[in-house]
Amino acid sequence: MKSFITTPIYYVNDVPHIGHAYTTFIADMLKKYYQLQGKEAFLLTGTDEHGQKIEQSALKKGQTPQAYADFISAKFKKLWDDFEIDYDYFIRTTDKNHIIGVQKAFEVMYQKGDIYKGEYEGNYCVSCESFFTSSQMQENKCPDCGRETTLIKEESYFFALSKYQDRLLQWYETDCILPRFRKNEVINFVKNGLNDLSITRTSFEWGIRLPESIGDKKHIIYVWLDALMNYVTALGYGNKVLQQDFWQNAIHIVGKDILRFHAVYWPAFLMSLDLPLPKHIYVHGWWLIDGVKMSKSLGNVVNPMEVAQEFGIDSLRYFLMREVSFGQDGDFSKKALITKINTDLANDLGNLLNRVLGMAEKYANLSLKCNEENLPQEKKEIQKILDSLECLMYEIQPSKYLEELWKIFVLANGLVAKYEPWNLMKEKKEQEVYGLLVLLSNILIKGALSLYPIMPQVATKILDVFGLSANAQNYHKFIKEHFIQMDLRLKKIDALFPKIEMIEKNDNPKQEQKQNLVDIGQFKEIEIKVGTIMSADFVPKSTKLLKLQVDLGEGRLRQIISGISEFYQPDSLIGRQVCVVSNLKPAKLMGEISEGMILAVKDDNGLSLLSIDNHKENGSRVS
Ligand code: ME8
Ligand code: MG
Repeated sequence: MKSFITTPIYYVNDVPHIGHAYTTFIADMLKKYYQLQGKEAFLLTGTDEHGQKIEQSALKKGQTPQAYADFISAKFKKLWDDFEIDYDYFIRTTDKNHIIGVQKAFEVMYQKGDIYKGEYEGNYCVSCESFFTSSQMQENKCPDCGRETTLIKEESYFFALSKYQDRLLQWYETDCILPRFRKNEVINFVKNGLNDLSITRTSFEWGIRLPESIGDKKHIIYVWLDALMNYVTALGYGNKVLQQDFWQNAIHIVGKDILRFHAVYWPAFLMSLDLPLPKHIYVHGWWLIDGVKMSKSLGNVVNPMEVAQEFGIDSLRYFLMREVSFGQDGDFSKKALITKINTDLANDLGNLLNRVLGMAEKYANLSLKCNEENLPQEKKEIQKILDSLECLMYEIQPSKYLEELWKIFVLANGLVAKYEPWNLMKEKKEQEVYGLLVLLSNILIKGALSLYPIMPQVATKILDVFGLSANAQNYHKFIKEHFIQMDLRLKKIDALFPKIEMIEKNDNPKQEQKQNLVDIGQFKEIEIKVGTIMSADFVPKSTKLLKLQVDLGEGRLRQIISGISEFYQPDSLIGRQVCVVSNLKPAKLMGEISEGMILAVKDDNGLSLLSIDNHKENGSRVS
């Protein structure tokens, strides 16, 4: 079956920000997911260029509305191109075919008797391009955005929206709007009674004229009727035949700010035009900055290109889709983004790939092969997790999808700790190690295929390690048919996600004191030197300590007692270069003298000694 996926067409009075990018990423994710499933999908995006708001913005910049629209529309298009959004068509409401299609629709509705002439008297919010009756407002403030509304009284054509109230309520009985709580809001709104909708304006110029056949030159068509029609004019309506095969399965992705337009006006227009209704409207929440909606007028927008340049497009996609449950609002912060990159991406996924590549190289010269019986039994658990993902995507729950998917990467890292392949190698159990590495590789392959809709570039890189690509055939084989590839040839690549250091701004000098900062002089007081471990022994009666003799280039060996015996076998240390704090006051530990300290790091995964990249003379100073 073919699918038609749309983003809103964005107003050209605003430069693109994280909120717009989010909607577009979701739409792109869905398209890619359908394609992996072997289904054809058409992705539509574009810009909404008419109306009073755009006319006013252009005037302020001293430009014609068309020149202004050309300029901003190109920015949106360029951003989607830079982000490698796989859109099939970029529509502009100033396109000639769109204008013809909108006029055609007006004519059809008029001839049907759904449009009549009258006079509109009430309030209008220019920012939302929306009409309100005084009972909907407090103190003439727009109930949607809180801005001042303007009172207008002008001749207007009306659309007989009230006529469609019952049919709309019937439609809401299908699963047309997700999340469900959004649908309930719409049902309440419609049950309260619908007024007919003013669909033309006479007090400004920038918009589509009524069709010639009506011959009323004063009026231009209401920008929301104009804009919503893009979804069908893009598929040929009004010019060629509407591509019904796509339209039949239409999915609109929108933010909650424009729910009413999509869930009430739009289906009513379609009913009037005798066209099928969209299959789904997926409604997401807002990205906020410190609890406030991101929007240009508030001056708190985050430029998605800047974030992507700093952290990578895929990391941004991952963060936006993982951080909030679809439908909820979310706070955007770099700090949260960096945390996600360091933990989920670098630690769980990046580290897994590194370990697999490292071990495959060391133990098998990058060529892996194993027999069925050597595959760890955890493969079943992995498959079960992967099987659960499909319904999460169809229920448009990308964050849950990622949460589940991550379980296989965490499980894979756990397998390394559990089987300790380095010990298996010592015990000459190579076949078990190959079995483990084959399973880990297949986890990476399956994980990458499942991750592709959300992180296309990263997934492509991972698959490339195994000589594979993200396509429907591989998806079918590895995910649906549970195929496990038993021999693999790996290709080394650079680390996927270098860890990012969190640099926090410190505007407050008081805070600085609390942080215990040292100056360079204080640091230099501590002597750290490179030394070679010449011998290592257990300290009797101690479970933690090793007794080391270290050559620091001093013409004698130093004895250092170090609490590392849980993590290193004494023999494995001999000949290793380490970093030693060499001017520490000597101390006695378990009756043994210690003349220095070996540097190491410890986290939940254990302890590692600090080492240096290349051999250095013993006694060389670390600075
Ligand atoms: O409403 N968080 O265009 P628009 C999340 N032209 N998403 C956000 C967001 C935020 N802070 N800010 C914007 C219009 N969006 C009309 C649409 S469609 C026929 C006409 C996203 O430029 C979200 O998808 O104001 C929202 O619905 C859309 O941009 C509004 O874009
Ligand atoms: Mg808006």
